[in-house]
Amino acid sequence: SAAEKGGYEYFMLKEIVEQPRAVADTLLGRVGVEGTLTLDEMRLSAHDLRDISKIVIIACGTSYHAGLIAKYSIEHWCRIPCEVEVASEFRYRDPILDRQTLVIAISQSGESMDTLMAVRYAREQRARVLAICNVNGSTIPRESDGVLYTHAGPEVGVAATKTFLTQLIACYLVGLYLAQVRNQKFGDEINAVIEQLAKMPEQVQQVLDTVEPVRTLARSLKDAKTVLFLGRHVGYPVAMEGALKLKELAYMHAEAFAAGELKHGSIALIEDGVPVVIVVPSREGRGVLHDKILSNIQEIRARGARTIVIAEKGDDAVRPFADELIEIPAVPTLLQPLVSTVPMQVFACELALAKGNDVDQPRNLAKSVTVE
Ligand code: AGP
Repeated sequence: SAAEKGGYEYFMLKEIVEQPRAVADTLLGRVGVEGTLTLDEMRLSAHDLRDISKIVIIACGTSYHAGLIAKYSIEHWCRIPCEVEVASEFRYRDPILDRQTLVIAISQSGESMDTLMAVRYAREQRARVLAICNVNGSTIPRESDGVLYTHAGPEVGVAATKTFLTQLIACYLVGLYLAQVRNQKFGDEINAVIEQLAKMPEQVQQVLDTVEPVRTLARSLKDAKTVLFLGRHVGYPVAMEGALKLKELAYMHAEAFAAGELKHGSIALIEDGVPVVIVVPSREGRGVLHDKILSNIQEIRARGARTIVIAEKGDDAVRPFADELIEIPAVPTLLQPLVSTVPMQVFACELALAKGNDVDQPRNLAKSVTVE
């Protein structure tokens, strides 16, 4: 009913605007005084977590993209090797797991069969399994050793939006907590990130407040044959998420590339007028990446691409190469996906609506995939 949708025509539209609150709720009660994280609810003891020598993240679809982003932060903060794999491939390759392996299973619904089967396999191999999940008491957390719930509230639209942002928050919390219990040498950086996290609901709100031009842009691309997405570092999984959203909602061909990989073949796809969405890394701490992507943008623009650039407010260096500029707040690199994903969601949603598609119930898709 209209009331359930909070006055919006689609749940997806409502769920996109709920993101600042979802992010705040997922942080609530977990960040204590002076930046100490309290995650005892995970049921994994600090003692267990100190022993871990490897992390393996398994998930599907959008949850897999959250896992890819988690890898960057966990490896950087904790110095623990971290692999990420789509759940449907995991158990079929004879993966190496033992008691010192922490498997993190990310699933919004807690019911994805591929992820559940991977969890069962991991536990048979004696790995410890931590679930990151949005649905209380669902199967995956019940079958895991521990769980950290995301507090996004129920998500009805088939496309994951607010649950993705809260999965990112949960992953950051796990990474920061692991770093704390393992006394990593980045103490100051960890504390600074924890402070930054608290500001993220506000930053996500800022994106929502300024996102209107993205809708106009999306409508203008309704008849495009394809949209390409480029990113580097954590911007690469964000690009993958942008492409997935467009495929599932607008039924359009979309593909994401690591910006540096383009020249190894895919740049041949660029011709006059092809829209390319580029996620520009934060300037903070990753100056090299920022400059590298600038030359990637120049390369594709010289070959006719219509460049749609998502960059930090005040990043004047990108302006001359952006046919369309979407500004997001400046936040630390590892947290940028929380703000850079939002325009992608709005873009895909609006483009799909312009095509007359039902964004809550896209064709051929179910909210949770309970078959392998
Ligand atoms: C996201 O927009 C998709 N509907 C889909 O990729 C989803 O993320 C995937 O099926 C995983 O679901 P889960 O998180 O409930 O396990």
